[in-house]
Amino acid sequence: MTLAPHAPAAPEPARPALTARALVVEFPVGRGQKVHAVSGVDLDLPAGRTLGILGESGCGKSTVGRALIQLPPPDSGTVRLGAEELTALGPEELRRARARIQIIMQDPVSALNPRRKVKDLVWEGPSIWGRAAADKDTEVDAILRAVGLDPETVRDRRPHELSGGQCQRVCIARALMLDPEVLICDEPVSSLDVSVQAQILNLLETTTRERGLSMVFIAHDVSVVKNISDEVMVMYLGKVCEVLPSDGMHLAAAHPYTRLLLASLPEAQRSGDGSPAHPGASAEPAVVAAELPSPLDPPSGCRFRTRCPLATDRCAAEAPGLREIAPGHRIACHHIESTRSLP
Ligand SMILES: Nc1ncnc2c1ncn2[C@@H]1O[C@H](COP(=O)(O)OP(=O)(O)OP(=O)(O)O)[C@@H](O)[C@H]1O
Ligand code: SF4
Ligand SMILES: [Mg+2]
Repeated sequence: MTLAPHAPAAPEPARPALTARALVVEFPVGRGQKVHAVSGVDLDLPAGRTLGILGESGCGKSTVGRALIQLPPPDSGTVRLGAEELTALGPEELRRARARIQIIMQDPVSALNPRRKVKDLVWEGPSIWGRAAADKDTEVDAILRAVGLDPETVRDRRPHELSGGQCQRVCIARALMLDPEVLICDEPVSSLDVSVQAQILNLLETTTRERGLSMVFIAHDVSVVKNISDEVMVMYLGKVCEVLPSDGMHLAAAHPYTRLLLASLPEAQRSGDGSPAHPGASAEPAVVAAELPSPLDPPSGCRFRTRCPLATDRCAAEAPGLREIAPGHRIACHHIESTRSLP
């Protein structure tokens, strides 16, 4: 008798490192008005992976990043770091949990206290947590080397004596000192010279890989986000419109807004090989006349409808929810079947 071969086991889904559900952040701005900065965002970051967040200025990327670390906590929704629900923690428990999730900001110079020396800046976290001062020199030197800085040269310098790239390396060293599980990087290279950007991106990529870190990488530069991320989440006016794998995203992107973003890239950047993003696509950016609507009074239904060439009455009446159209690919649009007609 011949036994039927076993079906190959399905790959184990990666353990979630960070999960957010239904995040809402609103900023009151007087006269009963509020900025709808983040309106019901879900986010899934599997352990050891990088999730890019993409979208134009003001779409809520940084507000999501800050809500994930609870600075400030969201107005509603939940954030779970591993098995721990951050949104349910008291102040002391939250302070402890924050060591496990570190943020790297856009402007490294202003993120560092100008009066402190590099060795003290890097040791700030461990000293707060009561680590033995006897370990300081060895540990500081080791982490400085790990981020590509020469301890002999920089240890006793202050931030104004360093370049922007060196300051960002110090910020990365400070974050790593606490041995975090998750790094939130909010535009970590956009204030740096182009020549330095690639070095910092390489450092983040190798550091996360070697240490098994999970990373949320926020930027408005499509090619930077695509290159460093495993998955990309595209936001528009406080909402998620598409989540998709970064590999092949230029061909797979289905949401009209994502297509618009990709179509506005120079042709050579669209697919990385100089070919157009979609077969038959024009190299011209999509023409969308309307401006970004105000987050004080976002459009009803689909928030992208005032700029969307495919908008219908249904789009004004009903907000589209995210639905899966392929493994790992979710999109919030009522008219997915028509989006391939776009550039
Ligand atoms: N403290 C605040 N008070 C009032 N409005 C705010 C505050 N912080 C952010 N906003 C508004 O919330 C919206 C989202 O801002 P956010 O900084 O998250 O956008 P972003 O996508 O990070 O933009 P950028 O690419 O320019 O950094 C914007 O309309 C912004 O003006
Ligand atoms: S739901 Fe409607 S308005 Fe929104 S992206 Fe899809 S087609 Fe455009
Ligand atoms: Mg921002």
